[in-house]
Amino acid sequence: MSVATLDSMPKITVLPHAEICPQGAEFETAPGVSVADALLDHHVDIEHACGKVAACTTCHCIVRKGFNSLPPAEDVEEDLLDRAWGLTAVSRLSCQAIVQHEDLTIEIPKYSINHAKEIEQKESSS
Ligand code: FES
Repeated sequence: MSVATLDSMPKITVLPHAEICPQGAEFETAPGVSVADALLDHHVDIEHACGKVAACTTCHCIVRKGFNSLPPAEDVEEDLLDRAWGLTAVSRLSCQAIVQHEDLTIEIPKYSINHAKEIEQKESSS
């Protein structure tokens, strides 16, 4: 476990994603921002179809390291996550997960719910 000291900023490591972040990314961010805002501020263009108000699941991320440092999800987030593509035990809506003082490793799922719908439509029309 890697905990940033109070005067240092936690590091976010983003695992490579073919479209959004092919090389992966690594940056420091201030505690207190959402994971989605931290990603977007550092040019990791995660989807956020509802404008980051916990009304879609397109900002779904998988927290490979540091999951337990995040404040727990509220019920509305838990309910939405049930609809996310590729849900795991360490999934969060990145717009609702607030960075604390611990480093995080974030995986962006291969598909968002929007992609999953497109694939379903293509498969049912072919
Ligand atoms: Fe819609 Fe996070 S951007 S739930």
